[in-house]
Amino acid sequence: MCGIFAYLNYLEPRTRREILEYLIKGLQRLEYRGYDSAGVAIDDGEKTSIIRQSGKVKMLEDKIWNLENFDFDKSFDIHVGIAHTRWATHGAPSDLNSHPQRSDESNEFAVVHNGIITNYSDIKQFLLKKGYKFESETDTEVIAKLIKHIHDNHPSLSFRELVEQAIQQLEGAFALVLKSTKYPGQCVATRRGSPLLVGIKSKNNLATDYIPVLFSKDSENKMKPDHRPCLTSTIPTTTAGMKRSESTTEFCPLGEDKEVEYFFASDASAVIEHTNRVIFLEDDDVAAISDGNLTIHRLKRTLDDTTGREIITLKMEIQQIMKGNYSSFMQKEIFEQPESVINTMRGRVNFDRETLVLGGIKDYIPEIKRCRRLLLIGCGTSYHSAIATRQILEELTELPVMVELASDFLDRNTPIFRDDVCFFISQSGETADTLMALRYCKMRGALIVGVTNTVGSSICRESHCGVHINAGPEIGVASTKAYTSQFISLVMFALVMCEDKISMQPRRSEIIQGLKALPEQIKEVLKLDEKVYELAGDMYQQKSLLVMGRGYNTATCMEGALKIKELTYLHSEGILSGELKHGPLALVDKAMPVIMVVTRDPVYPKCMNALQQVTARDGQPIIICEKGDRETQKHAFHTLEVPHTVDCLQGILTVIPLQLMSYHIAVLRGCNVDCPRNLAKSVTVE
Ligand code: F6R
Repeated sequence: MCGIFAYLNYLEPRTRREILEYLIKGLQRLEYRGYDSAGVAIDDGEKTSIIRQSGKVKMLEDKIWNLENFDFDKSFDIHVGIAHTRWATHGAPSDLNSHPQRSDESNEFAVVHNGIITNYSDIKQFLLKKGYKFESETDTEVIAKLIKHIHDNHPSLSFRELVEQAIQQLEGAFALVLKSTKYPGQCVATRRGSPLLVGIKSKNNLATDYIPVLFSKDSENKMKPDHRPCLTSTIPTTTAGMKRSESTTEFCPLGEDKEVEYFFASDASAVIEHTNRVIFLEDDDVAAISDGNLTIHRLKRTLDDTTGREIITLKMEIQQIMKGNYSSFMQKEIFEQPESVINTMRGRVNFDRETLVLGGIKDYIPEIKRCRRLLLIGCGTSYHSAIATRQILEELTELPVMVELASDFLDRNTPIFRDDVCFFISQSGETADTLMALRYCKMRGALIVGVTNTVGSSICRESHCGVHINAGPEIGVASTKAYTSQFISLVMFALVMCEDKISMQPRRSEIIQGLKALPEQIKEVLKLDEKVYELAGDMYQQKSLLVMGRGYNTATCMEGALKIKELTYLHSEGILSGELKHGPLALVDKAMPVIMVVTRDPVYPKCMNALQQVTARDGQPIIICEKGDRETQKHAFHTLEVPHTVDCLQGILTVIPLQLMSYHIAVLRGCNVDCPRNLAKSVTVE
């Protein structure tokens, strides 16, 4: 979805050039979230300048540095700059539809927004009647104008109070950051359903690790308390040692140090080069900076409210979000997999003793063992990781396992029971469909288990317990290393569940040793890169590509086909070989490129039948098979050999050639692999 970045320097002088450099760099880091237009708002004397441009951040940057009569060297002791990179939902990508959106021609209030305001047309009608003129087709413009309207009618309200009034009128999902010429040097940010964090940087150590939440008005609590604590229960509930002044509602995390820089961003990758001290805002938090002080207010007190927000120290390193010697983030992330899978297992699997501990879930294992069924819910690639592990979960947990696409799950109003255990799998931890499904299940009393790659994300915070997959930041829009880490996390969970089942120990041991060998085996698969590149050279001008397999490799086919279609814009279909004769075989002829995954697992004979069916129709399959499997190779037009591993882990090794294939075909077709058209990394709208 869209990316938000804002920068506020307080008594830390910065030139306009420096501020713009910060804003542009922030947008570049977030560009994977949306890349059809971008914009910034910065001060211009008493006024605010809004600079917007359709296209990528680079085009905005060129526009900015070519501005005439713009004093780039003018310095500000206190300044608020806001910036945005857009993934269009309402209104086509254009300069006018780009953010920041404004309240009026003099840019009194400027806002950047991530999400969708579902009742924007009602608000627009209301404002039109009041005489407001709209210039864009966006839902966001109503926010800027609504705030101006409230301000003009209640000029004594503070900036924060204005925003609080406005968001009570908004329905849908949003993360917002606002600046105003009426409130110079101040910035207000808020969120509901879309992610937003505050980064804090000061020369000295912060005086606290904790920001109290202040309540703008107490209201009767109408929410039922949940029967389980959330993951956020790690946030301290005491405020000892912190400097606070709740009565004046002012709070300075810096002690006496008043030189401070604040950042607002949709995710941590945009702030990590400036600071690793961040606060993840919760839904309906209103964070306001005024006179260098940060306050976090909430309108209503609810029973599960914690008394504050922890200032978290991120472990992320700047190198993790740099491309290094790779030509794209996706390529880097594919090649990182030998290390990312180690990081997923680090501190969790003891290969010598063959024991496993998943710290974020261990207290819930007895409850999970008593459950009625497991549900694995996600979208896209995350959904595929559920498909990839369903069979081993069924085998090792001896529980029924349902795998669900979050959107379809919600469309069906699927029955959920208190003794269900629902896993929500999401790289970003912010996917709206998955988050909505989580809330749906939580309301029905199920145990919620988050499987995410993003510490502090909404899914992570709203889960009762969970597993961080620890794959490291994934910037390429197409998910690669997160998939293999999700896969391993779910296998680890299955292993934990059968720890005390004597009959399963040989199987368990085989899988644990399989996990141990994986990093080296992935390195071996990555050596196929050159060969995959050559095959991609034969295929990149085709119109369509089929990927077939079954059993443990079903998910590999679906995931491989998804990677190919999203990156190369070729039609590509993942076909379960068992279904071939029920329809898809009609597509097969000499000209149709076919990739088949055939490994030596229990369904090998059936895969060989499918292979015969394809070659009998003059199909010329490329076969992904196990190293040294001469029998299978006899039927192949080309082969890609991967090492043998345990059947339930084989999908990790077979998917990597397809990741490489999609990457090379995309490059050969001239596609932007990190930013495929029409897509965005984190889909925070339903
Ligand atoms: C495809 C891809 C998407 C995501 C999907 C869910 O390469 O990345 O299909 O997997 O949008 O995203 P998360 O995992 O962040 O919930």
